Amino acid sequence: MTTVGIDLISFYTPQYFLDLKTLAEKRGVDFNKFYTGLGQEKMAIPPPDEDIVTMAASAARPILDQTDPSEIELLLFGTESGVDQSKAAAMFAHGLLKLPTRCRGFEVKEACYAGTAALQLAIPWALRNPGKKALILASDIARYDLNSPGEPTQGAGAIAMLVGVNPRIMAIEPESGLYASDVMDFWRPNYRDEAVVDGKYSMRVYIAALEEAWRQYHALSGRGLADMARFCYHLPFTKMAEKAHVRLAKTAGVANLSPEDMEHQMGESLHYNRITGNTYAASLYEGLCSLLDNCTKDLAGKRVALFSYGSGCMGEFFSGILQADYRKHLYSAAHKNLLDNRTELTYQQYEDVFQLGCPTDGGDHTFAQYRTGVYRMKGISQHKRLYEALT
Ligand code: COA
Repeated sequence: MTTVGIDLISFYTPQYFLDLKTLAEKRGVDFNKFYTGLGQEKMAIPPPDEDIVTMAASAARPILDQTDPSEIELLLFGTESGVDQSKAAAMFAHGLLKLPTRCRGFEVKEACYAGTAALQLAIPWALRNPGKKALILASDIARYDLNSPGEPTQGAGAIAMLVGVNPRIMAIEPESGLYASDVMDFWRPNYRDEAVVDGKYSMRVYIAALEEAWRQYHALSGRGLADMARFCYHLPFTKMAEKAHVRLAKTAGVANLSPEDMEHQMGESLHYNRITGNTYAASLYEGLCSLLDNCTKDLAGKRVALFSYGSGCMGEFFSGILQADYRKHLYSAAHKNLLDNRTELTYQQYEDVFQLGCPTDGGDHTFAQYRTGVYRMKGISQHKRLYEALT
């Protein structure tokens, strides 16, 4: 039987971070509110010469290094933080990654659900084009107002996934539970750089979406919680996923989950998000990378449950089967190296970068060089973003 799904998956996050202890001290709150209450320790801060395009291209580079670009005929870019109202971030990435002209590329949006929207669009396409691959990019910078409740849940990062038939990492199963509803829990009007969020309401809608999507998935597949080896959730902050998992278990008839059960079922998926913060469209798949990189047990042949949530809102519960030898195809060492070698910022440096913004005057601007991935934004000229590859 032909399987279809994630053939390769790679993660990138900026190389600067703010420790939430530093933020807590500045804001005059107990850091345990962030560390324990939200389950977040650090948030990634992109330098001024890095954006969603450079992060996505840096995430994709390791995949392109071992893939024939002419195989890639679909390029989907999921993001909440698009850099242009008209031109798709996919086309900027297409240029940086030197993909062939025979390629269909566009941007996909539905808040943090955009990565899943792209993945699910690519699956039937891949089945129809078995010799070809889709490249899915999901990249975001989570930004809230300074001194707002959302501030400690900021972050940044990108995921790149190669999708095709007979995948090396994970075959996606056909059943999905879906939940679409027109709500205002988190949004970002075109004139704002920072998202507006009704955080408590968003948490309630997330749970409602999960419960309904799970019920549908269960009805369609006949599977229960015991059929899942691990669970990955959309991660606005890791405590949200823990709350969601407790609720899912209750909905599925498991009254009491022990701390050991929780750790076993989802603990490994939370490591990366806890130290990068929210990566919006990338966050579910960052969680999947965290699970695959940090789980010492071989999960080949096992099922992983995935819950994607994007405010506004769209929820989807689906699942995938890890493939034999999936561990040979992970970028675990590169992810570890990236996360272990980041530079910590002071509060003032964080605020300076936050306040900088992007020049909007149409003049010529050259950006100083910071630590970035293999791509950076070298400036803006005549309202055009100028990118460069560093290798
Ligand atoms: N030690 C340990 N825990 C503490 C604490 C302390 N000193 N002080 C507070 N806490 C806990 C609270 O009890 C709460 O936990 P609970 O929900 O389990 O009760 C948690 O820390 C957060 O505190 P709270 O007062 O609820 O935080 P807040 O009102 O400042 O905001 C969010 C929290 C999540 C609502 C806010 O950060 C937000 O809106 N984030 C954005 C969320 C988002 O992105 N949503 C959209 C996508 S899904």
